[in-house]
Amino acid sequence: MKRALITGVTGQDGLYLSELLLSKGYEVYGLIRGQNNPKAELVRRTVPGVKLLTGDITDLASLIRAFGEAQPDEVYNLGAISFVAYSWENAKLTSDVTGQGVLNVLEATRLYAGDDISKVRFYQASSSEMFGKVQDVPQRETTLLWPRSPYGVAKVFGHYMTINYRESYGMHASSGILFNHESPRRGPEFVTRKVTQAVARISLGLQDSISLGNLDAKRDWGFAGDYVDAMWRMLQQDEADDYVVATGETHSIRELLDVAFSHVGIDDWEGKVVQDPRFFRPAEVDLLIGDPTKARERLDWTPKVGFLELVRMMVESDVAQQKELAGR
Ligand code: GDD
Repeated sequence: MKRALITGVTGQDGLYLSELLLSKGYEVYGLIRGQNNPKAELVRRTVPGVKLLTGDITDLASLIRAFGEAQPDEVYNLGAISFVAYSWENAKLTSDVTGQGVLNVLEATRLYAGDDISKVRFYQASSSEMFGKVQDVPQRETTLLWPRSPYGVAKVFGHYMTINYRESYGMHASSGILFNHESPRRGPEFVTRKVTQAVARISLGLQDSISLGNLDAKRDWGFAGDYVDAMWRMLQQDEADDYVVATGETHSIRELLDVAFSHVGIDDWEGKVVQDPRFFRPAEVDLLIGDPTKARERLDWTPKVGFLELVRMMVESDVAQQKELAGR
């Protein structure tokens, strides 16, 4: 039975990855941060098979202890402060967690492996946010990185550190450059879920409008459940490498609004969307679209859920959730 350790297990990807690994017969350990973490209950309820360990990616000693208990064959570093907008207000904290945190997990992995570096494989959750002011369209593994947010800069550090551990120590360390990936489990601060939650509430007469920032930004949005499968596939390869994980399609926030509103029968949403300067960013990433050719050819990975299906799935889940909340 293989053993896996996941940091960031409380997030959307942590939950989907836990389900995937448990279904494959893995023994799964999840790292939970902080005292009385309110999300621990969510993990226990959603993936009861996961064994929870206490630790923090900014605290190397806690990681060393967690590795000792989990004895992992595979390590998935998903832990991060992941909300881009927040990173301008908390740049130092974001670089400590999202950037330096990667170095800590790599170092804990190396120390745990000891003389036998081949005993453990490492996955780093890199991000398309690293492409920032994009230098190629579509973006691929070789595209020059030009991050536009403190979050993006921190992810670049983690990405290059992962490559450096691969090159310096021969560690099986892979980096997945994941484009935006969403699901009904997405936090409501991210634009897809913010929209689908508001659309559900508007359709039920619980809310009149939604306030948003830049409606012209374009993103390559996929389904998180598909993307965790790509992570696992990377660690099953003979050689570690870097992979773009994306759908190869891009859509604007306006198109997201079109699909979400029309799914509840509202075709003209202009009067229901307010543009609020508070939600504009100091520097925007205007266009993300990934080229997933390498992942398709080497990992035999393709996304199964397309944009329309994804948005509709999220709207339906939010309508059901809002009805349940309103009925209570
Ligand atoms: N969150 C949010 N809220 N975004 C808005 C809003 C709003 O009210 N209005 C417009 N947007 C625009 C943002 O300006 C951005 O261009 C786009 O919607 C997507 O924003 P997010 O959903 O917050 O995601 P992100 O692209 O910044 O970052 C996500 O994807 C990265 C991968 O590229 C996060 O999941 C990151 O952690 C991830 O690395």
